[in-house]
Amino acid sequence: MTKSPAERPLLLAVGGFEGLVGRALLREFHADHRLRSVHRRPSPAEVAAGVEVRAADAARIADWGPFLEGVDTVVNVAWYRQARRARFVALADGLLRLVQDAERLGVRRFVHLSVPDAPPGLEAGLPYLTEKRRVDRAVAASRLSYAIVRPTMLFGEGDRLLTVMSRIVRRYHRFPMFGDGGYHVSPLAVEDLARIVRREAELGPRATVPAGGPERWVYRDLTDALFRAAGLPPRYVHLSGRGAVRLAHLLEALGSSLLYAYEVEWLLSDRLGLAPYAGLARPLEPVGPFLARA
Ligand SMILES: NC(=O)c1ccc[n+]([C@@H]2O[C@H](COP(=O)([O-])OP(=O)(O)OC[C@H]3O[C@@H](n4cnc5c(N)ncnc54)[C@H](OP(=O)(O)O)[C@@H]3O)[C@@H](O)[C@H]2O)c1
Repeated sequence: MTKSPAERPLLLAVGGFEGLVGRALLREFHADHRLRSVHRRPSPAEVAAGVEVRAADAARIADWGPFLEGVDTVVNVAWYRQARRARFVALADGLLRLVQDAERLGVRRFVHLSVPDAPPGLEAGLPYLTEKRRVDRAVAASRLSYAIVRPTMLFGEGDRLLTVMSRIVRRYHRFPMFGDGGYHVSPLAVEDLARIVRREAELGPRATVPAGGPERWVYRDLTDALFRAAGLPPRYVHLSGRGAVRLAHLLEALGSSLLYAYEVEWLLSDRLGLAPYAGLARPLEPVGPFLARA
């Protein structure tokens, strides 16, 4: 039986419904949940969809009680792609307070978005990862019923990887190839990730869940497919792995957000070809049709 709006469970999106994953969560949950969001810049789209928006920086919230009032499920998507160490530390501290308060207030289920394993050097020294892992560990050590979902490279409208790669191919008819391109990726549709979050939110066990898409691509085959989708023959500018990392450092130093050195190292380390997530009612979306429209 359909629940009246007042009877629907309340989902709090920490990080909101405006980022890549957040937008897909809004599409997935708005029909059968009451939604609340907390992030710094709530959007008109959220208001139009009936989300109860609370503008706040998660790093500065000392008491999550008012944000968690009546909440059944928390989904945390808040993170930065790049920032100074102090900003990562402050955000992680805020999220640790969220975990404590969610535990104290008896939130039914806590779904935390994390990332796959990275090379040991990055895991040990990159604030993006050391602080993310501090949050992961706090969730796992809590008494919460939780799922830590660790998706690989995501694709979907407005993503910052495949859509950007496709634009480069279409504009310049060339693409940089890092090393031999023999490492793997298994892109996951962001809409499938939203369905995974729903499924994990409904399950009971405390779990850490890697989530790959349906196909494990050799990276170079994927970039060849990008050229095919653009109707162009593949043409590469070859860079050694080290050269690619150096180039990304240079782009960073020039203030570009196109590509970060840690992303290149992660890709080259061959840790992003995760196995397909199993358990959704319908098959995971392959990336091919997306490449044709990107
Ligand atoms: N994209 C991928 O390929 C990918 C792959 C694996 C895992 N993930 C993980 O999935 C999650 C979501 O990724 P995404 O690609 O959707 O990122 P995104 O597009 O950058 O969205 C992240 C959201 O977090 C919010 N946020 C950031 N700092 C905040 C703060 N201090 N307080 C409150 N909200 C804050 C931002 O909203 P405001 O700016 O309005 O505050 C933003 O909309 C992240 O944890 C990411 O690590 C992403």
